[in-house]
Formats: sequence, C-alpha cells, structure tokens
Amino acid sequence: MMKKIVLLTLSTLLSAPAANAANTEQLTQETRGAIKALGSELKGTLQAAIKSDGPVKALSVCHEEAPKLAQKVSQEKGMEVGRTSLRVRNELNAPDAWELSVLEQFEQRKTKGEDVKKIDYSEVTQQNGNTVFRYMKAIPADDVCLMCHGDTIADNLSAEIKKLYPNDKATGFKKGDIRGAFTAVKVLD
Ligand code: HEC
Repeated sequence: MMKKIVLLTLSTLLSAPAANAANTEQLTQETRGAIKALGSELKGTLQAAIKSDGPVKALSVCHEEAPKLAQKVSQEKGMEVGRTSLRVRNELNAPDAWELSVLEQFEQRKTKGEDVKKIDYSEVTQQNGNTVFRYMKAIPADDVCLMCHGDTIADNLSAEIKKLYPNDKATGFKKGDIRGAFTAVKVLD
C-alpha cells in the first residue's frame, strides 16, 4: 500500500512538468495569435478614427474602444486581456508586481538588442491561490502613437488628454520605444 502511494506520487511528479511545458507552449501560441489580432484591430481602428474624425475624437478609441476590444478577446479566449505600461495614462492600467517585473525584463531585452516587435514572455505561476497562465507582449511605439504619446502633442489634444487623465505619465515616447505591453491571464485551476 505504502509503495503504491509512493509510486503514484513519483509518477505524478515525473509526468506533471512535461505535461505543463506542453500545455504552456500551446497556450502561448494561442494567446500570441489572439493578442496579435487584437493589436492589429486596435491600430486599424485608431488609424481610421484619426483619418476620419481627427486625433481629438480618436482619443475615445483608446479610451472606450480599446477596453471593449480587449473584453471581446477576453470572452472569446476565456482569459483576461488588458494593456499596461511602466508609464501609464490610465491608472487602471497600472502594472501589478508580476507585470512590473516583466516590463523591466522587456526593457533589458530591448537594450540587449532584441527586436521590440518580437519581445514577449509567458509563465505558469501562482496568483491569489490559483495556478494561472500569464502572458505579456511588448507594444512598440511607432509614428501614429507619438501624436498622443510623443514629445510634442498638439495643444487642443494635450488639453483634452489632461482633462481625461490628470495623472497622465504616457508622454515623451520615441519611435521604437516600448510604449507598454498587452497582458493576459488565464486561470488554470
Ligand atoms: C488619439 C490619441 C492616441 C493615440 C494616437 C494612441 N494612443 Fe495610446 N492611449 C491613448 C489614451 C487616451 C489612452 C488611455 C486609454 C484608457 O483609458 O485605457 C491610451 C492608452 C494606451 C496604453 C495603455 C496603457 C496606459 O498608458 O494607460 C497603451 C499600451 C497605448 N495607449 C499604446 C498606444 C500605441 C502603441 C499607439 C500607437 C499604435 C497609441 N497608443 C496611440 C491615446 C492615444
């Protein structure tokens, strides 16, 4: 009887890590795809809004559409998806401890020469007593972003941003900087 329990425990221990690694890899691939689609959709919606209504109106895309689009992906994928940054505009997007350490890791990887477009990270970890899969992907700042996140922001736009976000820290970015990251959490058990 004792022996059987010991054997069972051993086999569980031996097989679990392998199963987890495969599981994590599959979840990473899936999440990577979903986040990539979300990223393109967001950028497309933003560019279209800037073109048709101007940047001040386009503020609402980032303000209202971004969370809605993230929610849609969250429901489809059974995970919670959002955006965060080391310098947030909306304090609701502030990173938690895990996200903060991954954002710092991303900055180090960029400094070492990694292509920002390809920087991402996933891990199975513990959160609030649950085993969770977590994923983050760096978001590069490109030209269209600098209008609202760069060094010089048009006066009317800047005034509107300050009105909506009095504690805005998300300015002063340059092309190629890491503007922030998509972040996803899936509860596994
Ligand atoms: C029209 C102005 C505007 C443009 C252009 C814009 N953003 Fe934003 N961005 C905002 C606003 C407003 C928020 C706050 C959204 C919210 O309330 O959640 C924001 C928030 C974010 C966040 C979430 C973290 C935070 O700071 O709260 C990220 C990441 C981000 N933007 C990245 C980008 C990227 C990348 C681009 C270019 C592809 C871009 N933005 C272009 C206005 C803009």
